[in-house]
Amino acid sequence: MENLDVLFLISKLLNKNRSVLMHGRRVARLACAIAREIKYRAAGIEDVCLAAITHDIGKLHLPKEIINKPGALDEEESAVIREHTRIGHILLHIIKSSPLTAEVALQHHERLDGSGYPFGLRASQINPLAKIISVADVVDTMISPQVYKPAMAVEAALSEIRQNSGSLYDPEVVSAALIIVKRRGKGIYP
Ligand SMILES: [Fe+2]
Repeated sequence: MENLDVLFLISKLLNKNRSVLMHGRRVARLACAIAREIKYRAAGIEDVCLAAITHDIGKLHLPKEIINKPGALDEEESAVIREHTRIGHILLHIIKSSPLTAEVALQHHERLDGSGYPFGLRASQINPLAKIISVADVVDTMISPQVYKPAMAVEAALSEIRQNSGSLYDPEVVSAALIIVKRRGKGIYP
């Protein structure tokens, strides 16, 4: 677990942007439940929680006009957004957060079939915790309202991860997410 100075810096940074903070907190709740469900043991639950909370921390250094732009982004703007993974990795490294949190920030948009970014890593090359957090991230992003789109229904979001299980998302993680949501009924967050 991180020392208090690192945690203080992280909370100070995240408090600058409420939507990144709240998204990270929701992702953490879902990611921790998934980690428990699949008996993820490579790191403690506090580390899973922290990696989830900080996965998008690189967004704090992107131009606000792109982050808050309603509607579709052009190619150049999308490329800027994709940089949040590398920026988060560097930032977490600089403030001496754990290598795991930095790796998750870097890899949480990688996809099993190599279609993700920033490196196009394939299944076996992606950190298992990044696979957990990517599913929690995608679910929360779909079911929460964004500046560029309204919230999607929970059922539609679940059908998207089910359809792409094994191609984009880790099948074990997807099954766990589906079990958790089913068990919880209407409120998907533990
Ligand atoms: Fe992200």
